[in-house]
Amino acid sequence: MKKVILTYGTFDLFHIGHLNLLRNLKSLGDYLIVGVSTDAFNAQKGKRTVISFEERIDIVQSLKCVDLTLPEHCWEQKARDITEHGVSVFGMGDDWQGHFDGLKALCEVVYLPRTAGISSSALKHCLREIALAG
Ligand code: CTP
Repeated sequence: MKKVILTYGTFDLFHIGHLNLLRNLKSLGDYLIVGVSTDAFNAQKGKRTVISFEERIDIVQSLKCVDLTLPEHCWEQKARDITEHGVSVFGMGDDWQGHFDGLKALCEVVYLPRTAGISSSALKHCLREIALAG
């Protein structure tokens, strides 16, 4: 039986930290599903992206380590997705440590080390500085 892994994220300005996380998650099983936050869900979270949802999900879906992408519309859908897709492991970067422990009733929950020194926010900050300097 295939071992299904599930994760979620915004993946704005896709970077090496995202890639490392997705590769590491895939190595825990056979089939990696990635939920990508929609623009409407990000607006609810007060998060504005540079790259649109359609382009962010297209980029993530094109990765070799990703088997399936789905839109993430709300916080509550995680439990439903775990059950619907027969998920064995739910994983996130360790900036979310403990945040999703409630899902342990449904599957294994892991928090993997983040890649140091890179984030979408840091990239946006850099772009702003370059624009101001130019
Ligand atoms: N992630 C990671 N290493 C990084 C950055 C992100 O492992 N350097 C992980 C996060 O922990 C999360 C996933 O990638 O599980 C998607 O994170 P996302 O919030 O989309 O990326 P960030 O770069 O953290 O974005 P932001 O700065 O807006 O929080």
